[in-house]
Amino acid sequence: MLKTRRLCLALGLAVCLTVGAQDNEIHQRSETYEWPTDQLVVKNLKAWQDLKFGVLFHWGLYAVPGMVESWAICDENWITRDSTRTYQQYMDWYFGLADELKPTKFDPTQWAEACSNAGMKYMIFTTKHHDGFCMWDSQETDFTIAKHAFKDDPRRDVLKHVLDAFRQKQFTIGTYFSKPDWHSQYYWWDVYAKKGRNVNYPVDQHPWRWQQFKKFTHNQMNEILSRYGKVDILWLDGGWVAKENRGQDLDMPEVARIARKNQPGIIIVDRTIHGPYENYQTPERTIPETQLDFPWESCIPLSDDWGWVPRPRFKSPEKVIGTLIEIVAKGGNLVLGVGPTPEGLIEPESVKRLNAIGAWLKLNGKAIYNTTITPYYNEGNVWFTKAKDGSRYYAIYRLNDGEKLPTSITWSQNLPKKAIRLVSNGKRVKYKLQGNQVTVYLPKQLPQQSIALEIE
Ligand code: GLC
Repeated sequence: MLKTRRLCLALGLAVCLTVGAQDNEIHQRSETYEWPTDQLVVKNLKAWQDLKFGVLFHWGLYAVPGMVESWAICDENWITRDSTRTYQQYMDWYFGLADELKPTKFDPTQWAEACSNAGMKYMIFTTKHHDGFCMWDSQETDFTIAKHAFKDDPRRDVLKHVLDAFRQKQFTIGTYFSKPDWHSQYYWWDVYAKKGRNVNYPVDQHPWRWQQFKKFTHNQMNEILSRYGKVDILWLDGGWVAKENRGQDLDMPEVARIARKNQPGIIIVDRTIHGPYENYQTPERTIPETQLDFPWESCIPLSDDWGWVPRPRFKSPEKVIGTLIEIVAKGGNLVLGVGPTPEGLIEPESVKRLNAIGAWLKLNGKAIYNTTITPYYNEGNVWFTKAKDGSRYYAIYRLNDGEKLPTSITWSQNLPKKAIRLVSNGKRVKYKLQGNQVTVYLPKQLPQQSIALEIE
């Protein structure tokens, strides 16, 4: 499924580029899952599974022109640029954005507030995307926000302020880190042509250079995980950086050692590389077809894009709520992509949508948070979850965009023994049991949105 989108940037020379996210190719869900052997990681994973809903921020150089994150500098056949500049000119322009990213209104407490109001419980922040630009004050490179246009601002070590703001709101904290680094001479070496997303030199012929890349990567991870307080999740993107692929071996046992020396029990997500370092799976922009009984998380952006773009096409709050309902009934978490503006704020339209999602969760969250799965999890528009102590089921009627609530709902398993109540106000609703079928009569004047019922 190649999704293609046209982006036109008016920046001196108009640059037109077609970016298609080849998501399926890169980020397919793993077929097997391996439970970690470290019991602290298992415990943390179980706690994370209870959270259900989080935010994934993409914020970096790409916010300045409002374009797709990083990918435009990568030559693959799904990426096209106009012919008015050479590749080198284009790279110079892109990397030069470091001198323009000056988020004078940077306010991570506004982000944390908006996400908390949305009912989100954990957050993941792009410390470094594939373009290699660091959103923390790395000592390993000058290519960081702390050493460019934002260098004189007291908040230049952006990562610190983002993590602090979210910790203040009791969020579980995750750091996104790109394994590939298209700015590093140890990954894309100017001596060779750049073709595609991979390392551009033969690793077996240049072992020293790859060794340097490994060291650089380990040191950067060490910075992120040692300097900024507690981090709960290390979310590693760029699944093509793997031993099996051109020898791009980052020595994952060593990565895990560094990570857990700094952060005992940290959840590591080496996306799409199933095994001991993919502690949960991350289907991207999709929901798995069936329920899965191991830890997983769908990552889906609120608009069509991960990062901020000037004219986003947003999903409706109802659509996001419906997605969350289905994901939770199937045993997963939803991490929703939000892109802060180049000035450093979450834009009003996003805030509005996040608020609407949060308003629903405030009333119906009992059927979502801290629940577990039940084998019979779906019948038509109705999705089921279960209280962890097994004392009750929840039936959530998902109202899809453009539909109206019916006057009654019927289902045929997870039947009531005592009562059915509206989760939003605890009031009993009328129902009729006939054979193995229950029909619930919804009260009039319910708001036209998805509705959660408690089955006792
Ligand atoms: C895709 C995109 C990448 C983005 C990630 C987030 O892999 O290619 O740019 O960071 O999704 O899940």
